[in-house]
Amino acid sequence: CGIVGFTGGRPAAPAILAGLRRLEYRGYDSAGMATLTRERGLVWVKRAGRVDALEHHLQVEPLAGCCGIGHTRWATHGPANDVNAHPHLGGRDLQAPLVALVHNGVIENHEPLRNQLRDEGYLFQSQTDTEVIAHLVARELEAGRNLFDAVRHVTELLEGTYGLAAISPREPGVIVGARLGSPLVVGVGEDEHLVASDASALVAHTPHVIYLQDGETVRLTPRHCRVEHRERGSVTPRIDRIDWKPDAVELGRFEHYMRKEIHEQPNTVRDALRGRLRLAEASAQFGGLNLTARQLRRVRRVVFAACGTSWHAALLGEHYIEKLAHLPAEVEYASEFRYRNAPLDDQTLFFVLSQSGETADTLGALREARRRGFPTLAIVNTVGSTIAREADGGVYLHAGPEIGVASTKAFTSQLVVLALLALHLGRLRHLSYDEGRRLIAALEELPDQIERVLAIEPQVEEAAHRMVQATSALYLGRDLNFPIALEGALKLKEISYLHAEGYPTAEMKHGPIALIDPATPSVFVAPRGGLHAKTLGNIEEVRARKGPVLAVGTQGDDQLARLVDQMLPIPEAHPLTQPILACVPLQLLAYHVARLKGCDIDKPRNLAKSVTVE
Ligand code: G6P
Repeated sequence: CGIVGFTGGRPAAPAILAGLRRLEYRGYDSAGMATLTRERGLVWVKRAGRVDALEHHLQVEPLAGCCGIGHTRWATHGPANDVNAHPHLGGRDLQAPLVALVHNGVIENHEPLRNQLRDEGYLFQSQTDTEVIAHLVARELEAGRNLFDAVRHVTELLEGTYGLAAISPREPGVIVGARLGSPLVVGVGEDEHLVASDASALVAHTPHVIYLQDGETVRLTPRHCRVEHRERGSVTPRIDRIDWKPDAVELGRFEHYMRKEIHEQPNTVRDALRGRLRLAEASAQFGGLNLTARQLRRVRRVVFAACGTSWHAALLGEHYIEKLAHLPAEVEYASEFRYRNAPLDDQTLFFVLSQSGETADTLGALREARRRGFPTLAIVNTVGSTIAREADGGVYLHAGPEIGVASTKAFTSQLVVLALLALHLGRLRHLSYDEGRRLIAALEELPDQIERVLAIEPQVEEAAHRMVQATSALYLGRDLNFPIALEGALKLKEISYLHAEGYPTAEMKHGPIALIDPATPSVFVAPRGGLHAKTLGNIEEVRARKGPVLAVGTQGDDQLARLVDQMLPIPEAHPLTQPILACVPLQLLAYHVARLKGCDIDKPRNLAKSVTVE
């Protein structure tokens, strides 16, 4: 979910609306806004659906006032409807509420708190945990506390996670925010302040931001910003500067962000490599890893924790580390790792991977590792995100903001960074100079090769026409191409709602082959190399059962081309960079299937770009 608040000398609603648009990637089930007006006090509007629906409503019935809060929601408690949309209102008289409040996170003890408030005569309109917080704050206001003290007091009653912002008609011009486990950033403008759940909502207004820490409560007026920590008391906030160009999030000539981001990959791969190659030593370097060569040489094992697409990237990272550095590597679902007693030791290198740097499960894994006293490293795209700030060291992807909910360019950048990392670890061990140089040459060739893959988009469109009628599809790959098959299937699922499963090619005969029929296409990730002959055999097995077959194959592989209904060619490449090329046609395939089906590509149903609840 996304939070935006504004207090200043100009109308709040347009500033909040612009911010909500930037945050829609965090969820878009419903949206709402509340402002403080001179004439009518607290006014609000809440709508199921996109920020568009909210904007439409505001055109008919504008909200006046120079102070307000807004929210875009990803449903956790209760369905996405008008009532469950934020802001939530608190007080005994809901026609004249004492507070309006927006919240991200999950309050785990909302049930007992709700019962207690009900007994005290508070009425509930929604099924959300947030309404509980709103009433609790109202109760404190009724008892005579000011908004800041009320919020601070209430946070002590809450178990779970929250990033929240509140306004009250009793205190015009004031916004109070608080965070625990769910991010909140203050934007410092000229005679105005903003607050948001992430900095992207602020960049259009100001480059100056304050990242609130867990346990902090903030009080904002147009001119003042006061921060207090639960235990440490008054805090002097540190103002950081962020230098995102707002135009990095414009669509330009593209119809969808996802396609734009797929096409950016030659550049984003270049940016992931920039400054990180050490040609003379056939190795790589990272500014932010904060580990010496001596420390890295001591490493005996690597563990990755991540979710979704980042988890797939980590699977390929495991292969890279094994192949180049001969170190055992393991990949964990962040959500599972956190609650297991997974052994770590001081010779283990622990990484989390996250595009957004805000995924709650991944952040939880990082904190668990830290809690146990292990140094943590992060591979993150969003500069200044919570994970980036909390990790002891790490590597940025430099892929620029990724807006399409289905991750594309961040994935390929993760793969490049993981290859560099494995190269670095390998060169500190047994990897030869020649092998190192060969990989570097291959990585440097990638941007041009991706350009060539993007040029086959018309062929991918044709392939999409073959897929669009299917109800289910199998994606098959082996060795390094297995994670690519998983990712290809995930892309299709996410944006076209077509069921797809990724499987190791040879494993297909042990179960999924039962699904094969003329209406179930198989997509083989089958570039030339190692086990190619066996893969051809597996394709024959599908053909024999009349299953349609698409394949991503090496340019000029006529044998494969003859065997399948359609082959999507990628250039011949180094075995370790080939999977990076192979995933590009699969991204485009998912995109074009979804387009043919008329799906909402950048905002697929039920998903959020960044899930900030566990
Ligand atoms: C969400 C998105 C996925 C994404 C995952 C991890 O579930 O819908 O597409 O892969 O989060 O996101 P992260 O930002 O941590 O890489």
